[in-house]
Amino acid sequence: MVLMYGWMVWVEHAPERYDWAVRLMTFGRIDRMKARIAEQVNDGDHVLDLGCGTGTLAMRCIERGARVTGLDAAEYMIGESGRRAREAGVSDRLDLVHDSVTQTHKHFADESFDVITATMVLGEFPPDYLHYILRDCRRMLRPGGQVLIGDECWPRTLVVRTIYRFMMTIFWIPQFLFLRRPLFPIRDLDGIIADAGFTVVSSTVFPGTSFRLVQGIKEPGPDDDVRQQEASRRPMVSEG
Ligand SMILES: C[S@@+](CC[C@H](N)C(=O)[O-])C[C@H]1O[C@@H](n2cnc3c(N)ncnc32)[C@H](O)[C@@H]1O
Repeated sequence: MVLMYGWMVWVEHAPERYDWAVRLMTFGRIDRMKARIAEQVNDGDHVLDLGCGTGTLAMRCIERGARVTGLDAAEYMIGESGRRAREAGVSDRLDLVHDSVTQTHKHFADESFDVITATMVLGEFPPDYLHYILRDCRRMLRPGGQVLIGDECWPRTLVVRTIYRFMMTIFWIPQFLFLRRPLFPIRDLDGIIADAGFTVVSSTVFPGTSFRLVQGIKEPGPDDDVRQQEASRRPMVSEG
């Protein structure tokens, strides 16, 4: 148990080792999730990545021709994202904002993004915050744009849920004690996204994990500009 505490502190406070450590902890599923998200991004899209971490998803989106704004509450993560973009020679395609995902209203205008993503971030918030964050995502998205949210979610079947509850009890306490940050696996991510006014077009579980990736579309009104709707309306296949 002590080893586990140490591991978590070590991973969370060192951006240079964060990626491979998380890859190890998720058996590589995190990369698959990010690849699936990037497939939804089109050349010329403006993407907002909430809780961008070390910028791995941002870099995948940039490779697809997007311009990305990454927001993160940790200065060292923002620093690492910027360093990687500079090394790859794509700094001009990545804007970085150091703030919390609850503060997006301060930084971004209505309808300023085509895609909004968040991987492994929103699980740190209780439900009321999630409702607020998702509603603000809808405000920031252009009509026809999409949210792609990937996170730790409560399993839906009883047996898996029971095993998961047991594991969570072990992990939650050290996480809170050592990082001073609670973890809330999301209950009904699809419902939260739908309640915020999105049409949920796919919801994918990654086998062997509790990760779910949910895709929601901001349906355009009859008078909205539909420039990129066709491209963004590509429901992901349901296999993780
Ligand atoms: C588990 S990491 C995931 C990073 C990245 N999205 C990924 O999938 O590799 C969680 C990230 O969320 C950031 N974070 C935590 N709370 C946040 C908040 N309130 N606002 C913005 N970022 C936050 C952390 O600094 C960290 O970079």
